[in-house]
Amino acid sequence: MTEPSTRWWQTATVYQIYPRSFADSNGDGIGDIPGIISKLDYLARLGIGVIWLSPVFASPMDDNGYDISDYQAIAPEFGTLADFDRLIAEARARGIGILLDLVVNHTSDEHRWFVDARVSRTSRYRDYYVWRDPAADGGPPTDLQSTFGGPAWTLDPATGQYYLHQFSRRQPDLNWENPELRAAIYQMMNWWLARGIAGFRMDVINLIAKDVDRGITADGPKLHDYVQEMNRASFGNSEALTVGESWTATPEGALLYSGRDRNELSMVFQFEHVMAQWHETWGKWQPKPFDLVRLKSVLSRWQYALADDGWNSLFWGNHDLPRAVSKYGDDGRYRVQSAKKLAIALHFLKGTPYVYQGEELGMTNVPFTAMSQFRDIETLNMHRLHRDAGLPEADFIAGANANGRDNARTPMQWTAGPEAGFTTGTPWIEVNPNYVAINAEAALADENSVFATYRKLIALRRQLPVMVHGRYEAHLEDHQQVMAYSRVLPDARINVVANFSANTVTVTIPPAMRGTGTALVGNGAPVTTLGEELQLAPYQAFAVLVEVGAD
Ligand code: GLC
Ligand code: CA
Repeated sequence: MTEPSTRWWQTATVYQIYPRSFADSNGDGIGDIPGIISKLDYLARLGIGVIWLSPVFASPMDDNGYDISDYQAIAPEFGTLADFDRLIAEARARGIGILLDLVVNHTSDEHRWFVDARVSRTSRYRDYYVWRDPAADGGPPTDLQSTFGGPAWTLDPATGQYYLHQFSRRQPDLNWENPELRAAIYQMMNWWLARGIAGFRMDVINLIAKDVDRGITADGPKLHDYVQEMNRASFGNSEALTVGESWTATPEGALLYSGRDRNELSMVFQFEHVMAQWHETWGKWQPKPFDLVRLKSVLSRWQYALADDGWNSLFWGNHDLPRAVSKYGDDGRYRVQSAKKLAIALHFLKGTPYVYQGEELGMTNVPFTAMSQFRDIETLNMHRLHRDAGLPEADFIAGANANGRDNARTPMQWTAGPEAGFTTGTPWIEVNPNYVAINAEAALADENSVFATYRKLIALRRQLPVMVHGRYEAHLEDHQQVMAYSRVLPDARINVVANFSANTVTVTIPPAMRGTGTALVGNGAPVTTLGEELQLAPYQAFAVLVEVGAD
């Protein structure tokens, strides 16, 4: 077998920054671009190759920047275009590329296109959005619901039609059927590429092509035509990393986006492993006991489906999800052990890993006790719906603390000083009170920190071709506490074992994994030999590299 050629984003690790919560340089309580620049040395030390920057564009911040009012301007609270150019240059000097968050399913209602569109039915930009006449009774054209709660249609009284918004009413959906709109988007993308960005993370890319009259709001028939057109018209001939967000992606669908001969994207974010842990009817607002067998089966299916073509993205968390250690580990007694375990279990899979800010410190969910502490529009909207349905507030808060988006959005914990060193002012959302113990300063001073494990894993990916290209092999698939898999090339094999429980567990090691090698990384005493049986400490995880004679 000839070894496939390696793309730069296959050996790099991506780090996601939520600018509002990362580092505040001027004391207004809001993170900003100069703040990010001041932390680049920290990120270089971690070893990442790419920063995915959540939106920094001009925006009324109804959805913290995922509602863009000008694609070619930086929001004043985040800085200026000059700051952004400096970020690109300073990051590049440290071998780090910048991914922009491309939010083109919708704009803000303050975008000049929408401002014009709602003036009259014959406005220049009317057709850039999706308008429909009211139903016979004057109500919304269909009963489609918005992701953030309530109808996905809002009446525009001045022109007597409803416009579509799959998210908040201040995020009108763009009409991708319009070729002029599409051309304007590609032109905007090229403008950013020319400024030297490394690529794009594409917000809800699965939603851009819809056929609302037939009830299709995701994965519409023209979706892949549009993505291919976008590829041809913008990043196609560059080395850009492109990753599309799709909550509906199946492994087969992911091959369409990321297959070798498809000329679409580098990879997609899929969420099957996230949703597998959600309640069947109440979704993420009702906590459900963690199910490892289910999680492993989803991850394995994706690993096998994209073994020879396409490429996976690997992640536990992002700005929409709870903190990884709280969700999949133990954020109490075993916080450090289980955070390292999660990192080890994920980073040896085949794909490109994404680290969400603070994950490398083992940051945890927040213990909010009152609705006044929450900031996220989705959480606030859902709270209203649950309250109107008569559900007790305490139950809603418990659900929001378990799975709500604000968990990921509390300020990055830099030091044990006031406001965790995030700001000299009052942060826009409260700091997690555990910052006194959990912070970057403490992590950097401790060679056994969660940070140190991430740093090691990120470095190994650059050194070991088997970590990048090795064939995935699942083991112990029905084991309820232990995840085990191998990555295999003709001359090397990595064996990974991770105990997902707080118990000491004894496992029978499958013959394929037995043998002696080098300890690559672990969160306990180094393991170099796997025999017939193995006793694992609570949350113990490790990887062993076995060199194999060429055959
Ligand atoms: C994506 C983003 C999320 C945002 C939504 C609407 O899911 O990750 O934060 O609210 O799209 O843009
Ligand atoms: Ca600021």
